[in-house]
Amino acid sequence: MRAPGEQLRAWARVNLGALERNLRAIRAAMPAHLRYIGVVKANAYGHGLAPVVTRLMRSEADAFAVANLDEASRLREVGEGWPILVLSALLPEEIPEACRLGVLPVLSSPEEVRAFAAEAARQGITLPVHLKIDTGMGRLGIWYSRFPEMLREMERAPALRLAGVCTHFSSADSDPAFTRLQRERFLGCLRPLPVPMTSLLLHADNSAGVESFPDGGPFNAVRIGLLQFGVRPRPGGLLQPRDIEPVLSFHSRIGLVKELPAGTPISYGQTYRLRKDSRIAVLTAGYADGLPTSLSNRGEVLVRGRRCAVIGRVTMDQTIIDVSALSPSPETGETATFIGWEGTERLTVSDFARASGQVEWEVFCSLSARTKRVYHTDTAV
Ligand SMILES: Cc1ncc(COP(=O)(O)O)c(C=O)c1O
Repeated sequence: MRAPGEQLRAWARVNLGALERNLRAIRAAMPAHLRYIGVVKANAYGHGLAPVVTRLMRSEADAFAVANLDEASRLREVGEGWPILVLSALLPEEIPEACRLGVLPVLSSPEEVRAFAAEAARQGITLPVHLKIDTGMGRLGIWYSRFPEMLREMERAPALRLAGVCTHFSSADSDPAFTRLQRERFLGCLRPLPVPMTSLLLHADNSAGVESFPDGGPFNAVRIGLLQFGVRPRPGGLLQPRDIEPVLSFHSRIGLVKELPAGTPISYGQTYRLRKDSRIAVLTAGYADGLPTSLSNRGEVLVRGRRCAVIGRVTMDQTIIDVSALSPSPETGETATFIGWEGTERLTVSDFARASGQVEWEVFCSLSARTKRVYHTDTAV
């Protein structure tokens, strides 16, 4: 369904009311003292940084996490004074700007500690930092058995203040035993901390992690991305399906409808051939809008609340679907929905991801700049 003014070819509707309710539902399911770090990297998972962050700031977020300094400075423009974690490793030439911006870098090695300490001293500031421990993700963080080396380096770095310690789970959505092991390794690292744990932010849980959040223990913050956008990576656990609402829907239009005879090949490479005389519709969105070519001959689209198959290869600006089953025929200009509700039918981002061979995070991040984001609060999607 299009709201007045949505005369568009490809667009994503983002329900900021649902975003806010998701945040509140997550908070309500967790211990009250927990700090909520909203993960808003990659343009808030494709939902649009400024509108998402503005809403989360007005809701119950405590801090934000981004991937790089560009995202951090755009976030600063939206609201001053919020703690911003930069989750990715920073490059040597970015360290002066990180110190100037006053972001919270997440450090993974004694070398990084030394480099940040030298720059903070040069700028005459005390920079709060978080230290990251690799408990089994095999990506950022110092390997857990070597964590004491980081602490020794911090003792030699008076221009840095230890503000938090964190780790990241690799399989919280699929392997509870490994997640438990990661938690134990992390907790083991905290014993020799030079400051009281209560003075630090201690965080490990992403969206899937919160579903197994332990009672008690020193964890006092979570880093939530996907779940706030209405997708549960690990069904079961703390939150019920009804607690979390989808935030984004994705639509395009029918640009052309036509009849073609049986045997006609469809789109580049002739990967599909009509089995019978058919009616096809050409949609006004393609891979330049965020529909990956892996949806070719696999995806589904809702038109008038009915599922229609993507046929042939998805092309840059157009995608072809079979609308033979729709009667009367749909017309040029009608809406086609890739993600969202139409009447009583719904295609979820997980349906889309299964068909395209992506993960849900990737589907959101692949929505291109050409796909306009349309913001609303609780009008029909
Ligand atoms: C270090 C870190 N923490 C938290 C998150 C949030 O994860 P999710 O979107 O599954 O909540 C991410 C996302 O990629 C991440 O890289």
